[in-house]
Amino acid sequence: MSRDSARLVELAARGGEPVVGDLGDSRSLDRACEGVTQIVSTANSFMGSGPTSPTRVDVAGYQRLLDAARRAGVARIVHVSASWVSPDSTVDYFRVKALVDDVIRRSGLPYVLLKPAALLDVWVNMVVQEVKAGRPARIFGDGTRTASYIATEDVAEFAVRILALRDVVNEEIEVGGPRSLSQNQLVDLIEASLGVPIRRQKIPRLVLLAAATVLRPFNELLARLMSLGAWSASADHLVADWQGPAIRFGVQPMTAEAFLRPRA
Ligand SMILES: NC(=O)c1ccc[n+]([C@@H]2O[C@H](COP(=O)([O-])OP(=O)(O)OC[C@H]3O[C@@H](n4cnc5c(N)ncnc54)[C@H](OP(=O)(O)O)[C@@H]3O)[C@@H](O)[C@H]2O)c1
Repeated sequence: MSRDSARLVELAARGGEPVVGDLGDSRSLDRACEGVTQIVSTANSFMGSGPTSPTRVDVAGYQRLLDAARRAGVARIVHVSASWVSPDSTVDYFRVKALVDDVIRRSGLPYVLLKPAALLDVWVNMVVQEVKAGRPARIFGDGTRTASYIATEDVAEFAVRILALRDVVNEEIEVGGPRSLSQNQLVDLIEASLGVPIRRQKIPRLVLLAAATVLRPFNELLARLMSLGAWSASADHLVADWQGPAIRFGVQPMTAEAFLRPRA
């Protein structure tokens, strides 16, 4: 499902049955749920602000989706949440994701909350975009805090494996990559893979926190990004038992090195 029909052309070409839908439009969600037995959901308004802010769209949107799912007799929802979401997080988006998790838990619909660590694709892409634009890579804090980065492809594989196992119900499953890496180490690996030196700009955590507070009334998205940076610089964010789900579902999450290696 996408709000944009142009994005669905490739899926249709691959044999999918895409539908145009919007979390804000119940009728489109009814159409999307028609004949569906299981839902995998990732939709979120992280990049939104004002009327499209995650604080306005996501919770009500998921309530609409769950209502539509119940009307259509959907048997289970596998929702991509995130590790570390919490109702008292300093990052507004993590608070919203915690509320969405709760809406799903209370919906009465059988669910699985799949909770990945930081997505490699997103964090690598952020650095590559800066390099392409001739800007330094932004490092949050001193860049030494670590995370269990996992590739989106591997999160998708977990979702696919879970869809095939009907007895996985009302569970919350944290997934992460096989090696924790700091942001400095991740940029080192990107540098080696691109074969060009990458300039780095370290932004102290206190600056990120202050910027988030000052910017919030004027630029919600930038404030969100700053608070996310401050959060990532505040502690290690590891998935301690990444091996348990890997063995249970038969998914071998790739390392950042493997992710960055050119593939045929
Ligand atoms: N980034 C990370 O490091 C990280 C870490 C852990 C977990 N996660 C979670 O992983 C999932 C995927 O993350 P991502 O960064 O790849 O997501 P993303 O690129 O930001 O994707 C957002 C998706 O949400 C859809 N969407 C937004 N508003 C919508 C609306 N009103 N109605 C219907 N669809 C809407 C968009 O679809 P269209 O624009 O096509 O309509 C888009 O495909 C998310 O749930 C995220 O919270 C991310």
